[in-house]
Amino acid sequence: MRLTVIGCGYVGLVTGACLAAAGHDVHCTDIDEKRIDMLKAGQVPIYEEHLDEILKRAVAEGKISYTADTGEAIRAGDVIFICVGTPPKESGEADLSAIDHVAREIATQARGPKLVIEKSTVPALTGVQLQKALAAYSRTSDVKFEVASNPEFLREGTAVGDFFHPDRIVVGVENEKSAAVMREIYAPILERKFHCPVHQGKCPTETAGELVITTINSAELIKHASNSFLALKISYANVISDLCERIGADVEQVTHAMGLDPRIGTQFLKAGLGFGGFCFPKDIQAFIHLAGTVGVDFEMLKAAERVNKQRIDRYFDKIRKALWVIRGKRVAILGLAFKANTDDIRFAPALDVIRRLLDEGAEVQATDPEAIAKTKMVIPDVKYYDDPYETLRGADAALVCTEWKLFRELDWERAGTLMTRRLVIDGRNLYSPKKMQELGFEYYSFGRP
Ligand code: UGA
Repeated sequence: MRLTVIGCGYVGLVTGACLAAAGHDVHCTDIDEKRIDMLKAGQVPIYEEHLDEILKRAVAEGKISYTADTGEAIRAGDVIFICVGTPPKESGEADLSAIDHVAREIATQARGPKLVIEKSTVPALTGVQLQKALAAYSRTSDVKFEVASNPEFLREGTAVGDFFHPDRIVVGVENEKSAAVMREIYAPILERKFHCPVHQGKCPTETAGELVITTINSAELIKHASNSFLALKISYANVISDLCERIGADVEQVTHAMGLDPRIGTQFLKAGLGFGGFCFPKDIQAFIHLAGTVGVDFEMLKAAERVNKQRIDRYFDKIRKALWVIRGKRVAILGLAFKANTDDIRFAPALDVIRRLLDEGAEVQATDPEAIAKTKMVIPDVKYYDDPYETLRGADAALVCTEWKLFRELDWERAGTLMTRRLVIDGRNLYSPKKMQELGFEYYSFGRP
């Protein structure tokens, strides 16, 4: 099938690359010409494990192409995936101007019928607007557009594996014809007919995810409802963690035992600095906003958002307690990305921590396996080091902000000899308090004695 992907950001690239790997012909386009030039030159503009190898393979097999000419890309595909950004406005509402712009492009450039799929995360009822916009912008009533919603549930850092091995593929359609097209697109994934770069032919044998076919409104709601629920879970664990600190319990023990109940589940109960990234913070704001517009006060979600914002305050309480005066102290930050295995720093808790430390007069040195280049552009007045041990040299404290494996495996005995003071304030609960103490560290983390 001939597919067009509009928007070569994270979602667009992963979607385009994986669908090409599943055997479809994919045409990718983006208004950012530099990005298209990079892709044509074989460079991948984002860091995502396995993405470069599947793109390389797809190019070699002639399954994927890139163009900055949106019209050309639109005409090349029967099905168009809209993968453009929907950033938050001041009010929390999602800014849908890029979707509107793309609708106009599709309506004016298409010469034949298209199935237009919302892949970008959008608030419920966007499909209705999209359908109206396509009809309104179209110069002729001869070209027919169908709309579908196909929300993505990929996690940054494991996106390629998630695409090939989904728990569910949600497809919101208006009629059986669109449903049949969507089934065909995802058949290779559901039937496991693709080359999996993650497992190299040894994919887990459990059955493939379920294809859930719903209305467009339901599909849109499923996406926001899922992300918001996960965010609620994290904030819940964080409040439990605060309680554990007051009561003298251990949040790891509590959440582990809670999670053994399959109705609760162990995932997304990790206490610490809270959630960041470009999905949860903006999606819950958009969901609260959408609920408000239809007269539903999503009080519960507002509380989850408030709890998350307060995580940085809680962290600073710990920092202040341990360091006493922050001004003039040399602080080493381990981790900049909002989570491990990505170079994404959008809404990353580490950046809030750094900005606050700088405001309070600390000297900051930082490291991250992937996110230094991006952070340098927004916070230049920090000393960045590739080597974590260099980052820790002369530091009065080490602050762990991202759960990279590299940091989990650090040799703290060696690090201790480099630091001015053996003090670790761990925002991600990576180490055993007992072991750190045995190594002579003052060690603080979240919700643990
Ligand atoms: C999230 C969802 O997990 C995906 O299913 C969804 O497709 C995606 O948003 C999206 O809407 O595009 P992602 O933002 O990549 O994926 O990251 P997560 O792994 O969900 O982590 C989000 C944040 O929560 C991170 O800052 C992480 O450190 C934090 N987190 C996660 C916790 O603080 N505790 C936990 O127990 C789990």
